Amino acid sequence: MDKISVPAIIDRKKTGKKISALTAYDFTFAQLLNETPIDLILVGDSLGMVSLGYENTLPVTVEDIIYHLKAVRRGLQKPVLVGDMPFMSYQISNESAVENAGKLVKEGGAEAVKIEGGGKMIERVQATVDAGISVMGHIGLTPQSVHQFGGYRVQGKNFQGARQIKKDAEELQKAGVFSIVLEGIPMELAEEITNNLDVPTIGIGAGVHCDGQILVLQDMLGLNQGFLPKYVKQFAELGSLTQSAVNEYIQSIQTGAFPTDENSYHLKTKSLKKVENQTQS
Ligand code: KIV
Repeated sequence: MDKISVPAIIDRKKTGKKISALTAYDFTFAQLLNETPIDLILVGDSLGMVSLGYENTLPVTVEDIIYHLKAVRRGLQKPVLVGDMPFMSYQISNESAVENAGKLVKEGGAEAVKIEGGGKMIERVQATVDAGISVMGHIGLTPQSVHQFGGYRVQGKNFQGARQIKKDAEELQKAGVFSIVLEGIPMELAEEITNNLDVPTIGIGAGVHCDGQILVLQDMLGLNQGFLPKYVKQFAELGSLTQSAVNEYIQSIQTGAFPTDENSYHLKTKSLKKVENQTQS
Protein backbone atom coordinates (compact mmCIF):
# COMPACT_ATOMS: atom_id res chain seq x y z
CA MET A 1 0.00 0.00 0.00
CA ASP A 2 1.24 3.53 -0.85
CA LYS A 3 2.27 6.11 1.72
CA ILE A 4 -0.45 8.72 2.28
CA SER A 5 0.75 12.32 2.43
CA VAL A 6 -0.65 15.58 3.80
CA PRO A 7 -1.35 16.87 0.23
CA ALA A 8 -3.20 13.60 -0.48
CA ILE A 9 -5.50 14.39 2.46
CA ILE A 10 -6.21 17.86 1.02
CA ASP A 11 -6.90 16.26 -2.40
CA ARG A 12 -9.74 14.24 -0.92
CA LYS A 13 -11.82 17.43 -0.95
CA LYS A 14 -11.69 17.27 -4.75
CA THR A 15 -12.01 13.53 -5.23
CA GLY A 16 -14.82 13.25 -2.66
CA LYS A 17 -13.38 10.04 -1.18
CA LYS A 18 -14.06 10.23 2.55
CA ILE A 19 -11.12 10.42 4.97
CA SER A 20 -10.96 7.78 7.69
CA ALA A 21 -8.95 8.64 10.80
CA LEU A 22 -8.37 7.13 14.24
CA THR A 23 -6.27 7.81 17.30
CA ALA A 24 -3.45 5.47 18.37
CA TYR A 25 -1.03 5.64 21.27
CA ASP A 26 1.19 2.55 21.05
CA PHE A 27 3.27 0.29 18.80
CA THR A 28 0.94 -2.74 18.89
CA PHE A 29 -2.08 -0.88 17.58
CA ALA A 30 0.07 1.17 15.18
CA GLN A 31 1.25 -2.05 13.52
CA LEU A 32 -2.30 -3.37 13.25
CA LEU A 33 -3.63 -0.09 11.84
CA ASN A 34 -0.78 0.14 9.35
CA GLU A 35 -2.13 -2.99 7.68
CA THR A 36 -5.55 -1.38 7.10
CA PRO A 37 -6.48 1.34 4.56
CA ILE A 38 -6.81 3.97 7.34
CA ASP A 39 -5.72 7.43 6.05
CA LEU A 40 -4.61 9.29 9.15
CA ILE A 41 -3.57 8.48 12.71
CA LEU A 42 -3.64 11.03 15.49
CA VAL A 43 -1.62 10.65 18.66
CA GLY A 44 -4.24 12.69 20.48
CA ASP A 45 -4.04 14.23 23.93
CA SER A 46 -7.01 11.94 24.62
CA LEU A 47 -4.20 9.52 25.54
CA GLY A 48 -4.23 11.31 28.90
CA MET A 49 -7.66 9.89 29.63
CA VAL A 50 -7.46 6.64 27.67
CA SER A 51 -3.90 5.45 28.44
CA LEU A 52 -2.86 7.45 31.49
CA GLY A 53 -6.13 7.52 33.45
CA TYR A 54 -6.43 11.30 33.90
CA GLU A 55 -9.85 12.88 34.37
CA ASN A 56 -9.36 15.16 31.37
CA THR A 57 -6.69 16.00 28.77
CA LEU A 58 -5.22 19.00 30.62
CA PRO A 59 -2.30 17.27 32.44
CA VAL A 60 -0.84 15.85 29.21
CA THR A 61 2.63 17.20 28.41
CA VAL A 62 4.66 17.64 25.25
CA GLU A 63 6.93 14.83 26.55
CA ASP A 64 3.89 12.50 26.89
CA ILE A 65 2.89 13.16 23.28
CA ILE A 66 6.45 12.65 22.03
CA TYR A 67 6.81 9.38 23.98
CA HIS A 68 3.63 7.97 22.43
CA LEU A 69 4.37 9.43 18.99
CA LYS A 70 7.71 7.59 18.94
CA ALA A 71 6.02 4.29 19.80
CA VAL A 72 3.36 4.77 17.11
CA ARG A 73 5.95 5.96 14.56
CA ARG A 74 7.89 2.70 14.97
CA GLY A 75 4.84 0.71 13.88
CA LEU A 76 3.31 3.05 11.33
CA GLN A 77 4.55 3.80 7.83
CA LYS A 78 1.56 4.35 5.56
CA PRO A 79 -1.02 6.72 7.09
CA VAL A 80 -0.33 10.38 7.85
CA LEU A 81 0.82 10.67 11.48
CA VAL A 82 -0.43 13.73 13.38
CA GLY A 83 0.70 14.75 16.87
CA ASP A 84 -1.62 16.68 19.17
CA MET A 85 -0.39 19.90 20.77
CA PRO A 86 -1.25 19.52 24.46
CA PHE A 87 -2.69 22.16 26.78
CA MET A 88 -0.31 25.13 27.29
CA SER A 89 2.13 23.97 24.63
CA TYR A 90 0.96 26.69 22.20
CA GLN A 91 -1.42 29.06 24.01
CA ILE A 92 1.26 31.32 25.53
CA SER A 93 3.08 32.59 22.45
CA ASN A 94 3.75 31.99 18.77
CA GLU A 95 7.32 31.07 19.73
CA SER A 96 6.21 28.33 22.15
CA ALA A 97 3.76 27.02 19.53
CA VAL A 98 6.47 26.75 16.86
CA GLU A 99 9.04 25.32 19.28
CA ASN A 100 6.72 22.60 20.60
CA ALA A 101 5.28 21.76 17.18
CA GLY A 102 8.88 21.40 16.00
CA LYS A 103 9.57 18.94 18.83
CA LEU A 104 6.61 16.74 17.85
CA VAL A 105 7.95 16.61 14.29
CA LYS A 106 11.70 16.37 15.07
CA GLU A 107 11.63 14.10 18.12
CA GLY A 108 8.30 12.30 17.77
CA GLY A 109 8.27 11.77 14.02
CA ALA A 110 4.91 13.49 13.43
CA GLU A 111 4.15 14.66 9.89
CA ALA A 112 1.76 17.33 11.14
CA VAL A 113 0.40 18.73 14.39
CA LYS A 114 -3.12 19.48 15.60
CA ILE A 115 -3.96 22.72 17.41
CA GLU A 116 -7.24 23.31 19.25
CA GLY A 117 -9.19 26.55 18.93
CA GLY A 118 -10.08 29.49 16.71
CA GLY A 119 -9.97 33.19 17.69
CA LYS A 120 -6.61 34.05 19.23
CA MET A 121 -5.20 30.59 18.40
CA ILE A 122 -5.37 31.35 14.65
CA GLU A 123 -2.20 33.39 15.07
CA ARG A 124 -0.46 30.34 16.61
CA VAL A 125 -1.62 28.20 13.71
CA GLN A 126 -0.34 30.78 11.23
CA ALA A 127 3.08 30.96 12.93
CA THR A 128 3.37 27.16 12.91
CA VAL A 129 2.39 26.89 9.24
CA ASP A 130 4.86 29.69 8.44
CA ALA A 131 7.57 27.61 10.13
CA GLY A 132 6.89 24.87 7.58
CA ILE A 133 4.84 22.55 9.77
CA SER A 134 1.49 21.21 8.55
CA VAL A 135 -1.35 21.99 10.94
CA MET A 136 -4.72 20.38 11.46
CA GLY A 137 -7.24 22.76 13.06
CA HIS A 138 -9.73 21.66 15.73
CA ILE A 139 -12.85 23.67 16.60
CA GLY A 140 -16.26 23.19 18.21
CA LEU A 141 -16.11 21.16 21.41
CA THR A 142 -12.39 21.55 22.06
CA PRO A 143 -11.67 19.37 25.12
CA GLN A 144 -8.83 21.57 26.41
CA SER A 145 -11.50 24.25 27.08
CA VAL A 146 -13.61 21.88 29.19
CA HIS A 147 -13.67 24.21 32.19
CA GLN A 148 -14.57 27.26 30.11
CA PHE A 149 -17.44 25.28 28.53
CA GLY A 150 -18.57 23.96 31.94
CA GLY A 151 -18.30 20.35 30.73
CA TYR A 152 -18.21 18.47 27.45
CA ARG A 153 -21.13 20.32 25.86
CA VAL A 154 -22.11 20.42 22.20
CA GLN A 155 -21.04 23.80 20.77
CA GLY A 156 -22.60 26.05 18.11
CA LYS A 157 -26.21 25.18 18.80
CA ASN A 158 -27.40 28.80 18.76
CA PHE A 159 -26.96 31.36 15.97
CA GLN A 160 -24.10 33.31 17.53
CA GLY A 161 -22.13 30.23 18.51
CA ALA A 162 -22.64 28.67 15.08
CA ARG A 163 -21.56 31.87 13.33
CA GLN A 164 -18.38 32.06 15.44
CA ILE A 165 -17.41 28.45 14.64
CA LYS A 166 -18.03 29.04 10.92
CA LYS A 167 -15.85 32.19 11.05
CA ASP A 168 -13.09 30.29 12.91
CA ALA A 169 -13.15 27.60 10.21
CA GLU A 170 -12.73 30.22 7.47
CA GLU A 171 -9.87 31.90 9.32
CA LEU A 172 -8.13 28.59 9.99
CA GLN A 173 -8.29 27.86 6.28
CA LYS A 174 -6.77 31.31 5.56
CA ALA A 175 -4.01 30.54 8.09
CA GLY A 176 -3.12 27.48 6.02
CA VAL A 177 -4.43 24.40 7.87
CA PHE A 178 -4.58 21.22 5.78
CA SER A 179 -7.78 19.99 7.46
CA ILE A 180 -10.07 20.88 10.34
CA VAL A 181 -11.48 18.59 13.04
CA LEU A 182 -15.07 19.56 13.84
CA GLU A 183 -15.96 18.15 17.23
CA GLY A 184 -19.33 18.12 18.98
CA ILE A 185 -21.31 20.50 16.79
CA PRO A 186 -24.73 20.19 15.10
CA MET A 187 -24.57 18.25 11.85
CA GLU A 188 -26.27 21.08 9.92
CA LEU A 189 -23.51 23.48 10.97
CA ALA A 190 -20.82 20.92 10.06
CA GLU A 191 -22.44 20.52 6.64
CA GLU A 192 -22.44 24.26 6.02
CA ILE A 193 -18.81 24.61 7.11
CA THR A 194 -17.79 21.62 4.99
CA ASN A 195 -19.51 23.05 1.89
CA ASN A 196 -17.89 26.43 2.51
CA LEU A 197 -14.26 25.23 2.71
CA ASP A 198 -11.57 24.10 0.28
CA VAL A 199 -9.80 22.04 2.96
CA PRO A 200 -11.40 18.85 4.28
CA THR A 201 -13.33 18.68 7.54
CA ILE A 202 -12.93 15.64 9.76
CA GLY A 203 -15.85 15.14 12.11
CA ILE A 204 -16.23 13.64 15.55
CA GLY A 205 -19.75 14.11 16.79
CA ALA A 206 -20.42 16.41 13.84
CA GLY A 207 -22.58 14.25 11.59
CA VAL A 208 -22.25 12.52 8.27
CA HIS A 209 -21.60 15.50 5.98
CA CYS A 210 -17.97 16.06 6.99
CA ASP A 211 -15.26 15.07 4.50
CA GLY A 212 -14.04 12.43 6.95
CA GLN A 213 -14.48 10.99 10.42
CA ILE A 214 -12.22 10.40 13.40
CA LEU A 215 -12.84 8.36 16.56
CA VAL A 216 -10.78 7.36 19.57
CA LEU A 217 -9.61 3.82 18.78
CA GLN A 218 -10.38 2.37 22.23
CA ASP A 219 -13.92 3.81 22.08
CA MET A 220 -14.78 2.25 18.72
CA LEU A 221 -13.22 -1.10 19.69
CA GLY A 222 -15.29 -1.33 22.88
CA LEU A 223 -12.21 -1.12 25.12
CA ASN A 224 -13.40 1.92 27.04
CA GLN A 225 -15.14 1.01 30.32
CA GLY A 226 -16.29 4.57 31.08
CA PHE A 227 -18.91 6.93 29.70
CA LEU A 228 -19.31 6.99 25.92
CA PRO A 229 -20.75 10.02 24.11
CA LYS A 230 -23.64 9.29 21.74
CA TYR A 231 -21.56 9.94 18.64
CA VAL A 232 -19.39 6.87 19.35
CA LYS A 233 -20.27 3.67 17.57
CA GLN A 234 -18.67 0.52 18.96
CA PHE A 235 -17.54 -1.56 15.99
CA ALA A 236 -16.30 -4.38 18.26
CA GLU A 237 -16.57 -5.56 21.87
CA LEU A 238 -12.88 -6.06 22.62
CA GLY A 239 -13.32 -5.11 26.28
CA SER A 240 -15.59 -8.05 27.13
CA LEU A 241 -13.59 -10.27 24.76
CA THR A 242 -10.41 -9.41 26.71
CA GLN A 243 -12.09 -10.17 30.04
CA SER A 244 -13.47 -13.53 28.92
CA ALA A 245 -10.04 -14.50 27.53
CA VAL A 246 -8.41 -13.60 30.87
CA ASN A 247 -11.11 -15.51 32.82
CA GLU A 248 -10.48 -18.56 30.64
CA TYR A 249 -6.72 -18.20 31.16
CA ILE A 250 -7.13 -18.13 34.97
CA GLN A 251 -9.48 -21.12 34.84
CA SER A 252 -7.09 -23.17 32.71
CA ILE A 253 -4.18 -22.43 35.08
CA GLN A 254 -6.29 -23.70 37.99
CA THR A 255 -7.39 -26.88 36.19
CA GLY A 256 -3.96 -27.60 34.69
CA ALA A 257 -5.36 -27.28 31.17
CA PHE A 258 -2.64 -24.70 30.48
CA PRO A 259 0.19 -25.04 29.64
CA THR A 260 -0.18 -28.17 27.52
CA ASP A 261 2.65 -30.29 26.13
CA GLU A 262 2.53 -28.07 23.03
CA ASN A 263 3.30 -24.99 25.12
CA SER A 264 6.25 -26.68 26.88
CA TYR A 265 9.92 -27.35 26.12
CA HIS A 266 11.58 -30.76 26.44
CA LEU A 267 15.01 -31.99 27.44
CA LYS A 268 17.08 -33.36 24.62
CA THR A 269 18.27 -36.21 26.88
CA LYS A 270 15.90 -38.87 28.25
CA SER A 271 15.79 -37.77 31.88
CA LEU A 272 17.19 -35.07 34.15
CA LYS A 273 18.55 -37.77 36.51
CA LYS A 274 20.65 -39.17 33.68
CA VAL A 275 22.08 -35.68 32.96
CA GLU A 276 22.88 -35.17 36.65
CA ASN A 277 24.60 -38.54 36.92
CA GLN A 278 26.65 -37.82 33.81
CA THR A 279 27.80 -34.39 35.04
CA GLN A 280 28.73 -35.80 38.50
CA SER A 281 30.86 -38.66 37.16
O1 KIV B 1 -7.22 14.01 21.43
C1 KIV B 1 -7.89 13.45 20.56
O2 KIV B 1 -7.92 12.23 20.47
C2 KIV B 1 -8.66 14.29 19.64
C3 KIV B 1 -9.55 13.62 18.65
C4 KIV B 1 -10.58 12.78 19.23
C5 KIV B 1 -10.06 14.55 17.62
O3 KIV B 1 -8.54 15.46 19.69
